[in-house]
Amino acid sequence: MSIAKPLPHDAARLHVTGAARYVDDIPAPRDCLHLAFGLSPIAAGRIASLDLAPVRAAPGVIAVLEASDLPHANDVSPSVHDEPLLSGGTVHYLGQPVFLVVATSHLAARKAARRAGFETRSRDAIFDVDDALDAESRFEEGPRIWEKGDAGEAIDGAPHVVSGQITMGGQEHFYLEGQASLALPQEGGDMIVHASTQHPTEIQHKVAEALGIPMHGVRVETRRMGGGFGGKESQGNALAVACAVAARITGRPCRMRYDRDDDFVITGKRHDARIEYRAGFDDEGRILGVEFEHYIRCGWAQDLSLPVADRAMLHADNAYNLPAARIESHRLKTNTQSATAFRGFGGPQGMLGIERVMDHAAHVLGLDPLELRRRNYYAEADRGGLSAPRASGAPPESISDEKKPGDGADATAGLPGDDALDVASRGAVGSVPEGGAPAAPAGVQTTPYGMAVEDFILHGITERLAESCDYAGRRARVAEWNAANPILRKGLALTPVKFGISFTLSHLNQAGALVHVYQDGSIHLNHGGTEMGQGLFQKVAQVAAARFGVGMERVKITATDTGKVPNTSATAASSGSDLNGMAVKAACDTIRDRIAAHLAERHQADRSVVRFEGGRVHVGGESYAFDAAAKLAYEGRVSLSATGYYRTPKLQWDRIRGQGRPFYYFAYGAACTEVVIDTLSGEYKLLRTDILHDAGASLNPAIDIGQIEGGFVQGAGWLTTEELVWDGDGRLRTHAPSTYKIPACSDRPRVFNVALWDGSNREETIYRSKAVGEPPFMLGMSAFLALSDAVASCGPGYPALDAPATPERVLEAVSRVRDGV
Ligand code: MTE
Ligand code: MOS
Repeated sequence: MSIAKPLPHDAARLHVTGAARYVDDIPAPRDCLHLAFGLSPIAAGRIASLDLAPVRAAPGVIAVLEASDLPHANDVSPSVHDEPLLSGGTVHYLGQPVFLVVATSHLAARKAARRAGFETRSRDAIFDVDDALDAESRFEEGPRIWEKGDAGEAIDGAPHVVSGQITMGGQEHFYLEGQASLALPQEGGDMIVHASTQHPTEIQHKVAEALGIPMHGVRVETRRMGGGFGGKESQGNALAVACAVAARITGRPCRMRYDRDDDFVITGKRHDARIEYRAGFDDEGRILGVEFEHYIRCGWAQDLSLPVADRAMLHADNAYNLPAARIESHRLKTNTQSATAFRGFGGPQGMLGIERVMDHAAHVLGLDPLELRRRNYYAEADRGGLSAPRASGAPPESISDEKKPGDGADATAGLPGDDALDVASRGAVGSVPEGGAPAAPAGVQTTPYGMAVEDFILHGITERLAESCDYAGRRARVAEWNAANPILRKGLALTPVKFGISFTLSHLNQAGALVHVYQDGSIHLNHGGTEMGQGLFQKVAQVAAARFGVGMERVKITATDTGKVPNTSATAASSGSDLNGMAVKAACDTIRDRIAAHLAERHQADRSVVRFEGGRVHVGGESYAFDAAAKLAYEGRVSLSATGYYRTPKLQWDRIRGQGRPFYYFAYGAACTEVVIDTLSGEYKLLRTDILHDAGASLNPAIDIGQIEGGFVQGAGWLTTEELVWDGDGRLRTHAPSTYKIPACSDRPRVFNVALWDGSNREETIYRSKAVGEPPFMLGMSAFLALSDAVASCGPGYPALDAPATPERVLEAVSRVRDGV
């Protein structure tokens, strides 16, 4: 059985030997041309005149295209047609594509693009959220506001109130493979496009629009990306459309890749944000109400900013039951790169808001931050997450009931659901047992957006992790160390993650698959998901092998192809294996049932006696090798090809009111990080991180652990060393690895223990697994809050650290804390 095995990534060998083929490695077809964009030198205003004669005269240049040369639609937006491929005169950010050079080599195209003569008329640009607020420059008419109860009243009546703000920077995706596309013109005006994209159907759609042909005239293929991280959900549209248009005009294959600097300057990044907060707490540290104002910097075009900002709001509670909450979200339009999807899709920003509130409150109330967090956790509403029945057909080895950790947080029976817990009764809510698990009412609590939290398992996860990493012992040792060491200070933080799984645009929660069994018993596997290093293809191939009861070597993983599976969603929202795994299962089961019916008939047996196991098909007492069974079925004129389809159940969501069930379920995890800071320089190191993460009944523990390690490191990078800096003209000054610091191997925690929570999804996902792509990203917050903890040891003040917590910011915070500010 191939499920739940720690098998290596299907392309691991190819990755490490350099043999994996990415778009730019596809051997260049004869006469292939290369493209580069000429970029706006100003952030806002008009290009009064553009002298392209020197560009046209440059060596190797075949054509130079402007907006007016485009044959049909001039738009690469994934949402509201507000994003021209080439700007026609008015420009909105420094780096915006203005013209397109088509040349005989990559270098010739890039060199020529620099030779344009620009005459520009700048107008006042809007760079930061305050500029945007002053100018009422926003997407959507006003702020979006979601409310639960009366937060203002709850806070005003609270014994303790904390308020403040946190700013958090954006983040460059820094996929190792930059954006790339290759368009191959076909007869009759059709186009084949190879693109490094998470969303082949969107590329197909935008290319068809740009060429003025139906989608059936465009076929998009994606074998793999060298990382996407959300940066290839929409940001590849421009290159693919440019290649297709240039290929149409010249009749020759066209290829384009962004040099790293161009990739930084042209493409969108994570949304940076400022969150302002006010929260009321009782004497035991229970939150009574909270108000958040989210100021989200979206850049110049809408792109995916509305759903990103929505997801920030949807994670404003993280793991905590908020009796009253008001969340106000401003989506601000600025003259900067159009911010886009990035792992977590706004969730990390929203979650950091409430984690700051918890940290701040613990400081003010003099409580251990972990204790305060646990007192505010959602109740373990029932034990479904721990005792859910296995999906039919789930392998016996996937979960072991005996090994399940005791969650220690038995629900206290008898209390009514306290969701409607009104403010007046807040003081009367039962006291929290000292040092023990908090009293958990038996009723189901709801999020600020009205979704019942039915699968909460963080009490158990937290307890297990705190025990295994010796949180209490190390908390005491850190205090001892800090008492003895004035210069090097240590900090410790254990933080939880609860992350909602599903696209919040409900119709995207669907997937298709196409499976063929050939007459030799080999299996051709295709589905709508894309591979970006996350191991989706491997996991889904394991599902296919398991359904047919054969070894992995029988399953051929093939490139995502809009001609095989149509109308796909982006591989995003961590839902790749949930959706495509189920679609593949459905396709395989259709073929399996046909083979079973045929063999049953041959043996005058009942279909139910046919089993697919150990590479053989068993019919009663007899059995066939799988290839022999396939051959028999073929000769019996049985169709061995099938599509499969899946749509996520139970979803219902009204994003305007902020009410409903946007998520099928939640994924959980917790991380504990210890850091040391140098109070003279602000420099720091991550000493140790322990993680316990919930991937449900993991389809592949090796791949899932890889996702957790990578997610943590990327999340810690966002909050520590990765800093984007624009100058006063709106020029991005950090546009290469020389100036933008992603974590290196040597930056990972010195001790790094990652374990999977041993449980299964209470919902009927593929083999009861859980999505794992994005949730671990937010475990990186433990590093940020450990830095805050270390700084807090330096004096009486609260650090109020902003992110990224670069050494400069840590140093500033140390002096603030010493001064007691
Ligand atoms: N892991 C690797 N190695 N490379 C990536 O680009 N992208 C992340 C995550 N893990 C990414 C990754 C993001 S943003 C998402 S949404 C998920 O993978 C998408 O894949 P999945 O749905 O199959 O988990
Ligand atoms: Mo991931 S940000 O949903 O591509």
